[in-house]
Formats: sequence, C-alpha cells, structure tokens
Amino acid sequence: SINDVKIIDIPKVHDERGFLAVIEKNTIPFAINRVYYLYDVPSDSFRGGHAHKEQESVIIALSGSFEVLVDDGKTKKRIMLNKPNLGLVIPTQIWREIDNFSSGAVCLVLASTTYDEAEYIRDYEVFKSQLLG
Ligand code: TYD
Repeated sequence: SINDVKIIDIPKVHDERGFLAVIEKNTIPFAINRVYYLYDVPSDSFRGGHAHKEQESVIIALSGSFEVLVDDGKTKKRIMLNKPNLGLVIPTQIWREIDNFSSGAVCLVLASTTYDEAEYIRDYEVFKSQLLG
C-alpha cells in the first residue's frame, strides 16, 4: 500500500573533495537485478504510467529534479525528488507517474527484477480492477 512507499537515506561520505554516496546490499530492501536511468528527458515528458505485479524499485534523482506520483488505487501522493542521496522506495502494485523533469535531470532506477513486459500493468483501469479482484 501507499504506506510502504518511503524515502530512504543513502549513506554518504563527505570531505573537501565532495560527496560520495554508497548503495550496498543492505542499503535497500531488496536484491537489485537491474539498474536503468532516464536522461536527456524533455521537461514536458511524462514517464512511468504503470504499475508492476512483481517489481520493487528505488528511484533516485542523481541529478536535477522531477516529481513522482504514487497511487495504490486509493491514495495518491506526489513526491519531489531533488537530492542524490535520497531514494524513493516503491513496493509492488503501486501505480507511478514521473513528470516535471528539470533540465539535466537524471532518474536512476534500481529494480528487483530483470525487464519483463509481462509483469507491467500499463492500463490504469486494469490496475484498479486487479486491486479489487
Ligand atoms: P517505459 O516502460 O515506457 O519507460 P517509462 O516507464 O520510464 O516511461 O519503457 C520505454 C521502453 O524501454 C519500452 O519499449 C520498454 C523498454 N525497456 C526495456 O527494454 N528495458 C527496461 O529495463 C525498461 C525499463 C524499459
């Protein structure tokens, strides 16, 4: 549910040379099977627009900012991501949309599964009806 959507702190090391953020096995609540990222995103782009039957994700604004809408079918929340040391944990069965990309935004996604189109739910009505059924 939406209550399981949460922000995690990614541990960082800071010295006069800058910041170093580290994601290790235990930093996030699942084993990573895939990493992908969005970049050169036009500011009027609308990404996401789907839920997953299996996949859990952590979304990180590595650079710039964007907004993530999460929706469990009952409650919606909009979360602005603009810090490279914060990760938005999205459990399975959550509808998500990403928009309002700043110039230079890079959206990193850590995913629990390898890519499988069959585990996507890309129709919002199907998403809603599967929650009821
Ligand atoms: P899509 O799911 O529409 O991206 P977003 O959710 O960010 O809007 O994916 C765009 C295309 O990329 C689509 O043809 C599927 C493909 N794709 C892969 O081949 N592998 C992947 O890991 C991902 C996430 C997408």
